[in-house]
Amino acid sequence: MSKLTNSNIEVTKVSTSRINDVDFENLSFGQIFSDHMLLCTYKNGVWNTPKIVPYQPLTLDPSTKIFHYGQAIFEGLKAYKDANNDVFLFRPEDNSKRLNISAKRMAIPELPEGYFIEGLKALLHVDKDWIPTQEGSSLYIRPFIFASGQGFHASPSDEYTFIIATAPSGPYFSGNVTVLIEEHYSRSANGGVGYAKAAGNYAGQFYPTQLAVEKGYNQVIWTDDNTHEYIEEAGAMNIFIRINDTLITSPTSDRILDGITRKSIIAIAKDEGIQVEVRKISVTEVVEAAKNGSLKEMFGAGTAAVISPISGFGFKNKDYELPDLENSYASKLKKRITDIQTNKAEDTFGWRVKV
Ligand code: PLP
Ligand code: COI
Repeated sequence: MSKLTNSNIEVTKVSTSRINDVDFENLSFGQIFSDHMLLCTYKNGVWNTPKIVPYQPLTLDPSTKIFHYGQAIFEGLKAYKDANNDVFLFRPEDNSKRLNISAKRMAIPELPEGYFIEGLKALLHVDKDWIPTQEGSSLYIRPFIFASGQGFHASPSDEYTFIIATAPSGPYFSGNVTVLIEEHYSRSANGGVGYAKAAGNYAGQFYPTQLAVEKGYNQVIWTDDNTHEYIEEAGAMNIFIRINDTLITSPTSDRILDGITRKSIIAIAKDEGIQVEVRKISVTEVVEAAKNGSLKEMFGAGTAAVISPISGFGFKNKDYELPDLENSYASKLKKRITDIQTNKAEDTFGWRVKV
């Protein structure tokens, strides 16, 4: 087909909107879904033209390959509305590219140029009223692709479905986050799929995270699978550690998701004159810094979580608390990134995209 534009996306609207049932003042994360979704199927070797349809359940045969072999990937981004009701996305091209990076690794056919961005813009056009304006809320956008072909043969599917669903959402975490530094389980390994947003990466984290939650922590901090000596990332966030005045984050690799928030934070911190080091950081170094008082902050960074300060961590049956700083890097960087996202501040980086 020719290049996808807004005008060749067919739209079927709901007969009655559900929007009046929504309490926009008390939104949780990802629990309520907007009226419409984008739907696009891959059959006979081609991605068909996406459509916008009412948000609806899917009917799938029990032999559908997603259920058996987990061939599924997803993305996460947000839409924001400013005081003039203008709608913005934050670095959506990066999500579009990353979805195709994940697709390639999971033997899923990549989406053609424009399907992600043009499809998303068309969807937002239809569901613009679902974008919250309350402080700390936004429209969370979940694009995903799964194997919708059938059969028990353990091989890539011959059919796929691409959907974009959206959910008006409040904060991902309520309050501060405590973490357990993992000594046994691994999220990913060299040569594996850790850098892809593959659904199974998250399923594999649930059990170790449950164990951490039973011990009173919110999240696991993943360490490298080989030695468990180096800090890599959190369950749904990249991780930043401030020792004295230096902000440190681990380099991305096969094992770590190349977070869009992470790279934005690195750029903003440098712009603020903060010394940033992208390097391996050992658990020993962090524990030592906690003991000698040079560990000032730890925070997670991700689209859903934005910047989530970590108030303490556990390691080898010992708990370490972090100081509650008044002018933390976390609060300064969170303000700068959310002001750019919501069009409250000038975007000197060219990240914001008006829809
Ligand atoms: N790491 C993992 C495992 C994630 O799931 C996410 C969330 O998307 C991130 C990091 C942060 O990535 P981004 O900032 O692109 O949302
Ligand atoms: C996001 O931050 O968008 C994510 O995809 C994390 C998700 C597991 C909630």
